[in-house]
Amino acid sequence: MAVISSSTKEFLYEEVANELARLIAAGTYRPGDRLPSVRQLSLQRKISVSTVLQAYMLLEERGLIEARPQSGYYVRLHPTAAPPEPEISSPEPDASQVGLRELIMRVLRDTENPNLVQLGTALPNRDLLPTKKLNRIVATLAREKEEQSNGYFFPPGYEPLRVEVAQRAVVAGCSLSPSDIVITAGCSEAMELCLRAVCRAGDIVALESPTYFGILQSIEALGLKALEIPTHPRDGISLEALRFAIEQHPVRACLVVSNFNNPLGSCMPEENKRELVELLARYEIPLIEDDISGEIYFSEQRPLVAKAFDRKGLVLLCSSFSKDVCPGYRVGWTAPGRFRATVEWLKFASSGVTASLPQMAVAEFIASGGYDRHLRRLRREYAQNVAWMTQAVMRYFPPGTRVTRPAGGFVLWVQLPEQVDSLELYRQALKAGVTLAPGYIFSAKQQYRNFIRLNAAVWTREVERAIARLGELARPK
Ligand SMILES: Cc1ncc(COP(=O)(O)O)c(C=O)c1O
Repeated sequence: MAVISSSTKEFLYEEVANELARLIAAGTYRPGDRLPSVRQLSLQRKISVSTVLQAYMLLEERGLIEARPQSGYYVRLHPTAAPPEPEISSPEPDASQVGLRELIMRVLRDTENPNLVQLGTALPNRDLLPTKKLNRIVATLAREKEEQSNGYFFPPGYEPLRVEVAQRAVVAGCSLSPSDIVITAGCSEAMELCLRAVCRAGDIVALESPTYFGILQSIEALGLKALEIPTHPRDGISLEALRFAIEQHPVRACLVVSNFNNPLGSCMPEENKRELVELLARYEIPLIEDDISGEIYFSEQRPLVAKAFDRKGLVLLCSSFSKDVCPGYRVGWTAPGRFRATVEWLKFASSGVTASLPQMAVAEFIASGGYDRHLRRLRREYAQNVAWMTQAVMRYFPPGTRVTRPAGGFVLWVQLPEQVDSLELYRQALKAGVTLAPGYIFSAKQQYRNFIRLNAAVWTREVERAIARLGELARPK
C-alpha cells in the first residue's frame, strides 16, 4: 500500500517524483543524464524499493524520464512528443464594438466559489505567493512609518517604488528614470489610463486575437472598437497582418501583451518587437504594451520588452505585481513615454492616488532582495506545473485536442474538437465542480467557440482529477 507523506499529504512516491521533477526542471539532471539507481535512492532516502519504482513510473508516465533495459532510468532527451499547437488565429478582419460584459461578469462570479476547482481564473498559485513575508513588512511599516503609510502619495506615486521599478526595467532593456513612471492600481488601471490618454470614444484599437478579456472590457467601457489581428500561438501578433490592417483602417492605437500573452502564452521574438515598434512609429501610432507576466519566464533570460526599441516615446509600457507577488495589493505602474503628463493627470482625475501601504510594502520587498529569490522559485514551479497540465490534457482530452506551449506565465489555451462548444462545456464543468474560461470571452466577436483557457498555476491530485473530468465531458457523445 502506498505511504502518505506527513509533511505534504501527498503519497510518498509522489513526493519523491515531484522532487526529482524539480531537479530535472532546475537542470540538476539534464536530458540524457542517468538518475540514481532504484537501490541507491531507496537506501539513501530510507524508503522502500517499491516506492522508488512507483516514483520512477510516475515520471515515466509524465514523459520526463525513460527506462533503458539493463541500464536504469534516464532523463528524456525530449520530454514526450510535444502536443500539437493551435494554428495562427484568423479573426474577422473588421473592427467591432465589444459586448461581453454579462458573460464575463458571470464567469468572474464563479471564480469566487470555494467549492469549485478553479481552472478558470488567471490568478497565481496562492501557496507560492510571499504573503507571510509581505505581512511582516506591512506590520513593520505600519508601526515605524505610521504617518507616511496612512497618508497620500500623489501621482506619480511613491518614489522609492518608482526607483525599484526603473532599476528592474533595465534588465527588460529599458532605460527609465523614476520620473518616467506613474504608479497605478494594478495593470488594469495602467492600461485604461493609457487607452484614455491616446484614444477617444469610437477610435479603433488593434489587438492580438485572442486576448485577455479585461482588455476587451476596458475597450467596451471606453466605447472604443476592437480590431483583432491574427496571432501566432508562440510568436504573438502577426506583423504582416497588422501592417495590412493599418493600411485598411484608421488604427488609433495598438495594444499587445508582448511576453506570455494571456491566454496564448505567446512571447514575441526580439526581432518582432523591434519591427512592431518601427512599424507603428512610421504611422505615429502609440503602442500600449502589457508586460504583466514578463518576469515569469522558463528559459535562462528575461525577454526584453518592445519598449526597449522605442526611440520616439510612443510606447506606453504597463505592468503590475499581480501575477507574481500580490494580486490583492493592487500595485501596478506605467512608463507612458511622451504621454506621461497626461497619464499622470488622468490618474489623479480618475482615482486620485494609489493606496500607500501596499506601495511601500512592495518597494521594501524588492529592496530587501526577496523578489529575485521568490521569482526563481516561481519560475521553476510554474514551468513544471505547466508541463504536467499539458501532459494531462493530452492524456485525458479527446483526440484532435491542441494545446499551446507557453515559455512563461501559467495559462494554457486549449483547442477542442470542432463540435465542442466551450460555453456548454463550461456549464457542465460547473455541475462537475470545476471552472474554466470559455474561449468566447477572449474575442470581441466571440470567435473561440471550441477553445478554453486553463490555469496551470497549481498542480495537485485534485487538479489532475478535474482535468480528467473535463476531458471526459469534452468527448463527443
Ligand atoms: C494580460 C493581463 N493584463 C492585465 C491583467 C490585470 O492585472 P491587474 O490585476 O494588475 O490589474 C491581467 C490579469 O489577469 C492579465 O492577464
